[in-house]
Amino acid sequence: MNICIIGVGYVGLVTAACFSSLGHTVIGIESDIDKLKKLKKGFSTIYEPGIDKLIKEGLRKKKLFFFSDIEKGVEKCEVIFICVGTPPKDDGEPDLSHVEKVVRKIASSLRGYRLIVEKSTVPVNTWQWVKRTISLYNKHNSEFDVAVNPEFLREGNAVKDFLHPDRIVMGVENERSRDTLLKLYEKIKCPKLVTGLPTAEIIKHASNSFLATKISFINSVARLCEKVGADVNEVAQGMGYDKRIGKSFLKAGVGYGGFCFPKDLAAFIHMAEKNGCDLGILREVQKVNESQKKLLISKIKDALWVLKGKTVGILGLSFKPDTDDMRLAPSIDVINLLQKEGAAIKAYDPQAMSNAGKVLKNVKFCKDPYLTAKDSDCLVFLTEWKEFELLDMNRIRKVLKTPAIVDGRNIFDPEKMRKLGFVYGGMGR
Ligand code: UDX
Repeated sequence: MNICIIGVGYVGLVTAACFSSLGHTVIGIESDIDKLKKLKKGFSTIYEPGIDKLIKEGLRKKKLFFFSDIEKGVEKCEVIFICVGTPPKDDGEPDLSHVEKVVRKIASSLRGYRLIVEKSTVPVNTWQWVKRTISLYNKHNSEFDVAVNPEFLREGNAVKDFLHPDRIVMGVENERSRDTLLKLYEKIKCPKLVTGLPTAEIIKHASNSFLATKISFINSVARLCEKVGADVNEVAQGMGYDKRIGKSFLKAGVGYGGFCFPKDLAAFIHMAEKNGCDLGILREVQKVNESQKKLLISKIKDALWVLKGKTVGILGLSFKPDTDDMRLAPSIDVINLLQKEGAAIKAYDPQAMSNAGKVLKNVKFCKDPYLTAKDSDCLVFLTEWKEFELLDMNRIRKVLKTPAIVDGRNIFDPEKMRKLGFVYGGMGR
């Protein structure tokens, strides 16, 4: 089938490249001319393992094209995916202006039946606004349907998550839309839930909010573990054997970041309030997550006493491993808090340093972890990059001014670190 993906960012580009790898003909629409140039040359505009190869293959097989003009995409494709960003406003409500602008443009470009699919993460019942706006601007009175198909892509894992998902959710209004989406995804073998549009929109927010709740739950348990000498990793392991709980998303640490959990939680709370409901539990999830960063700072103070005039080395800046994404990364707040207390910051991240340079000030970026540790008073791990597990800790201890480590992602074994002569602080261990 011919598919148009409007907005080729973290979600749209993965969707476009993967659909083209399944044999569909895909047109990606990108308004940023520099990004468009890069994409046309076969280079990804996001760091995502495996995406470059799919883009190059799609271009070579003439199954993937990139343009700036929505009209062209609407004219050539029977299914139009809306994948533009929905950034949070100050009060947590998502800014839907990009969605609305794109919907108006689609409407005025319609010349025949099209299925318009909402993939951007939007508040429940946005589909009604999409439908109403298209009817308002539908100059040629074309037939159309609106559907909802939320994404569940984890950054750093997005290609795998698209091609091998746990489930595909399709919110449809009629059989024609249902059959079109089922045909689109027929090569992907997984449970496919066909439901109503508001249900499909809620499933996305509810899923992310539950995952964030699991993280804040285990972070709360981690605090108790520290007080009573338990190991939160082993608590999580013991819990995870219960299939109803599951092993994943029970890793204690400095908390969740990224452009999804914080944004989606705020949006879900806001949307519930607008509909007369109170999701108080999620406000508590947010509170725990915010305080994790302050808890980490207190661990650095336990190691150094006074922060003013000290140098703190930070290993890991991105909000999680295998991404260069710094959006709402815990490292941003942690570094700002440390700098407020008068500490000097050195930092290293395998991928995120150029993005970090755009959001952090007065940080000395280092070429490798050892240079970051050199002459630092404390070394703090904020992202669990695989390469940190392979560090020569004897060498780290030698170059550190004082052998203090705060492990914000529980990468290391506390006993081993203490035996190596470090003053070691973990999260819940
Ligand atoms: C998330 C959802 O997983 C995905 O389904 C949705 O489509 C988009 O939002 P993402 O934000 O890319 O994906 O990353 P994820 O792997 O979920 O991690 C989010 C944050 O939670 C990261 O900061 C990570 O470090 C943190 N995290 C994750 C924990 O602190 N503990 C865990 O056990 C798991």
